[in-house]
Formats: sequence, structure tokens, C-alpha cells
Amino acid sequence: MKRWNVAITGFGGVGRAVADLMLARRARYAERYGADIRLTGVRRSRTASVDPNGLAPGDWDAGVPAGDDFLDTAQAHVLIEAGPSDFRTGGPGYGYMKAALSAGLHVVAISKGALVHDGPGLRALAARHGARLKISGAAGAALPTIDLIQHNLAGCHILSIEGVLNATSNHLLTEMMDRDVNLADALTRAQDAGFAEFDPRLDVEGWDAASKLLILLNFGLGASLTMADLSVGGIQHVTPADIHGWRAAGLSPRLVAHVAWTDGTLRAGVELRTYPATDPFALVRGTTKAIRIVTDAMGEIVATSHAAEPGATAAAALKDLEHILAAG
Ligand SMILES: NC(=O)c1ccc[n+]([C@@H]2O[C@H](COP(=O)([O-])OP(=O)(O)OC[C@H]3O[C@@H](n4cnc5c(N)ncnc54)[C@H](OP(=O)(O)O)[C@@H]3O)[C@@H](O)[C@H]2O)c1
Repeated sequence: MKRWNVAITGFGGVGRAVADLMLARRARYAERYGADIRLTGVRRSRTASVDPNGLAPGDWDAGVPAGDDFLDTAQAHVLIEAGPSDFRTGGPGYGYMKAALSAGLHVVAISKGALVHDGPGLRALAARHGARLKISGAAGAALPTIDLIQHNLAGCHILSIEGVLNATSNHLLTEMMDRDVNLADALTRAQDAGFAEFDPRLDVEGWDAASKLLILLNFGLGASLTMADLSVGGIQHVTPADIHGWRAAGLSPRLVAHVAWTDGTLRAGVELRTYPATDPFALVRGTTKAIRIVTDAMGEIVATSHAAEPGATAAAALKDLEHILAAG
């Protein structure tokens, strides 16, 4: 049995869901991979709980002030990063990931900030130190995106990608189409229901979808792009007249992250597109997310996912952990 110590940075809704599910699956890891998985450290903004022999669920609420040596004291082999996403600076996750990868630890990223801020740099750092950097949780989570590209479509030439990658904007568009409400009213209802952010600009103006697309491009397709290379639009300018026009024409609006190559030139961004009732994207309603990939040899693949809660995100991150365990 090989010992694997796992540390988690960021211990909010998602970090806790990861811890719960990972410990519940310990027997599976032992049986399938010969892996003795221990959660040896969790770190919040100010406090950390560490036990190199493994924390039990009751242990992780009693923290002590966190130090810079968190990964060392946790004797971690794998870091799961689930702290806040800060696209401008990379957030605290950027520092944790750099420290982990530099020390040869494998990293499972769930936060998006560091991957958007310096994806190519982190990718290079991982390669230099023989570490694996897995990003499913940051690129659609339960919706298969990066694994679809890297595993299921391996060897194919990808011609184009379209993704409904932001659940909140899709929910808002669906409400506007179904209930004839304007964007402000749809947003207020979503905030009251607790699933739109207090500051929804990242969702509504397309930046969250763009960040997932950028991560996919840089990690799935080997690009080295920045946000400045994408043209990013949102749904903030959709008017009641637009809604009536689409409804009359039998079209469904979707905020779509897209990439395509024209004469060898890549065009990528986020924009509002409309689809007829016969298109699979017309069925992608409410908080459902979707991706469509067109390839040379395997044709068109469409995947959808409705699961968005922290438990589903944790499961996506732990799928990444299993890929690390499988590779030894
Ligand atoms: N919700 C989802 O389903 C989902 C899906 C995909 C990706 N994500 C990403 O997952 C991440 C976590 O989401 P969440 O909903 O769990 O957020 P959350 O509940 O707000 O938790 C954030 C956690 O990060 C901790 N934190 C803040 N600053 C830190 C620092 N300097 N060092 C270490 N930890 C720090 C906070 O500590 P305190 O407890 O001390 O405040 C808190 O425990 C976000 O980046 C989000 O974008 C979420």
C-alpha cells in the first residue's frame, strides 16, 4: 500500500465537500490503486489544521494560526486548491500552487484565478518538476471538458468548440425567455434564490465563461494565451425586444464560449448566439451546462451536465485525484 498525503487549501463549501467525499472513498482508493489516502492538512484564510498521520472529520475545525510552512508540515504529496478565484493576481492559490509544483507535489486545481493569471507558467513549472497539474474542477467541474479533449478525443484534430459554461447566465436567459422578465428582475430572483452572486458581473458579462475557455485552451489544446486574446461579451445588453424577436423566430439564446480555426488562425471568445429548436444547445436550459466539440475523425460530440453543487465539483476534483493515483 502506497501512502498518499493530501492537503487542501481553501476550506469553504467546496474544500469541505472534497474532504468529506475523499475520506468516504478511502476504501475505494485502497482497493483500486493500492493507495492509503490521508488528509493531512487543511488551510483556511487564517488558520490551518494539520496532522501528518491524517485528520479525521472532527479534527479539522480546531485550527491553529497558519504558517508559510503549511505544505511541509502536512508532508503533502498532493495539493487540492479550493481557495478564492482572483483572476487579476491569481489569488492565494497562485502562491500555493507554485510552492507545491516547485517541490514536485501534484496539484488538483479547483480555483480558477491562478490558472487564468498564469496558466502557461504553471504548466511549465509542473513539467519542469515532474508534477501533474489537473484542472477539471476549474474547467466546468462535473461537465467533462478537459478529459473529453485529452482522453476521449485523443488523436483527433479539434475543429471547433462551443460551450455553455456559465450556469448563472444561462439560467437568466432561460428565465427571460420563459417568463418574459427583464434581466434586472431575473437577476434579483436568482440572487434571492441564492445562486447568483451579489456582484454578478463575472457571470453576466461573460468573464467566468471566458476564464474557463482560457483554461481549456491553455491546458487542453496547448495554447499560451491570455484573456486579452479573447473577445469577451455578455448578456448585459439583451433587451425585451431581443427576447420577443428570438421567441417569434423560434430561436434560443445562449451565452457561448467558442473557439474555431479559420485558415489556421484561432478565433476565440464569448458571445451570445442563438440556436433553432433542432440544435442540441436549444435543450440546454436553466443551470445546465454543455460543450460541443467538432473533430475531424470522431465528428461532433455534445456533453451536458446539470450538477453544479459543491459535491459535484468535489467529485470532479477527486476524479483528477484518481487519474494521479492511476499513474502512480
Ligand atoms: N461552488 C462550486 O461548485 C465551484 C465550482 C467550480 C469551482 N469553484 C471554485 O472553488 C473555489 C472555492 O469555492 P467555495 O464555494 O468553496 O468558496 P468559499 O466557500 O468562499 O470558501 C473559500 C475558502 O477559501 C479560504 N481562503 C481565503 N483566503 C485564503 C488564503 N489566503 N489561504 C487559504 N485559504 C483561504 C476561505 O477561508 P476562511 O474559511 O478562513 O474564510 C474559505 O475557507 C472558488 O475558487 C470557486 O471559484 C467552485
